[in-house]
Amino acid sequence: MTLMADMGAKLAITRRHPLIGTEVRGIDLTKPLDRDGLDRLNSIWMEHPMLVFPNQKITDEQQIVFARNFGELEVHPSVAHRSSKNPEVYRVSNVDEQGNILPSESKEWQYLELTWLWHTDSSFREIPSMGSILHGIEVPKDGGDTLFANMYAAYEALSDGTKAEIEGLTVRHSHDAVIARSAKLSARQDKGTYTELPPVEQPLVRRHPVTGRRSLFLSPHTMDGIVGMPNDKGFALLDDLTKHATHERFVYRHSWHQDDVIMWDNRCTMHAVMPYDSANQRRIMHRTTIVGDERPSL
Ligand code: OGA
Ligand code: MN
Repeated sequence: MTLMADMGAKLAITRRHPLIGTEVRGIDLTKPLDRDGLDRLNSIWMEHPMLVFPNQKITDEQQIVFARNFGELEVHPSVAHRSSKNPEVYRVSNVDEQGNILPSESKEWQYLELTWLWHTDSSFREIPSMGSILHGIEVPKDGGDTLFANMYAAYEALSDGTKAEIEGLTVRHSHDAVIARSAKLSARQDKGTYTELPPVEQPLVRRHPVTGRRSLFLSPHTMDGIVGMPNDKGFALLDDLTKHATHERFVYRHSWHQDDVIMWDNRCTMHAVMPYDSANQRRIMHRTTIVGDERPSL
């Protein structure tokens, strides 16, 4: 299905999955966006939480300019993964800045491998990220697809009983929980250098500040239990909800082409990277991350 965006725009959108994953053509991300173009893109984004812009040969600096249309940019807590030229570029890459594949036993790779777990970006922050923009610079031949789940749809599909059971629950999240998820990283003396971030508490069900829709706020790699619930019970509930939310009917699988730029709304989606042969295949992605607008709430 191809629709022309309204207002006589050149933007052409095509759904790649009924619930999430929409391709956008007719825009050149290397060029500045005017007010009208930005408004149109924003309204498409609010309806389609994960957008794919194929064939965009942008520099990091152009990506930063594009991302700043939507808000201020985060600097990632992991010092080793920041671009040395532009600290607001997070290098989601198994290749270092000198072009060498990271050894599988390096702490930098062990940290990045955690992107293979389902998560939403910056859920360890008091105000998590609004959205992320990712440029596929080098993509592996096999594997390394990225999965995206629509968390509105996952919430809406819950039974009324489950909705009532989880309404008002609060989840603990932390950056330390991310590191704890990796047995290899936690066993090391030197786990890497990260900005210190205290644990935070977030609602399990959140309301999107723009669309007003409710969604499940899960981020398995930062979740550290439910407030006021014994750990085993809390984790069992979070595991059940994660299993539900990542069922293939809610998920788009993005198979990368070089110079795809993708953009997602962290306030209503989750994502995970599919495993690939990271010791032999190069995968270089650069991410810019938009600062959130407010604390999640119901
Ligand atoms: C990210 C991430 C996705 C990918 O950039 O936030 O989790 O495809 N990685 O590498
Ligand atoms: Mn991520």
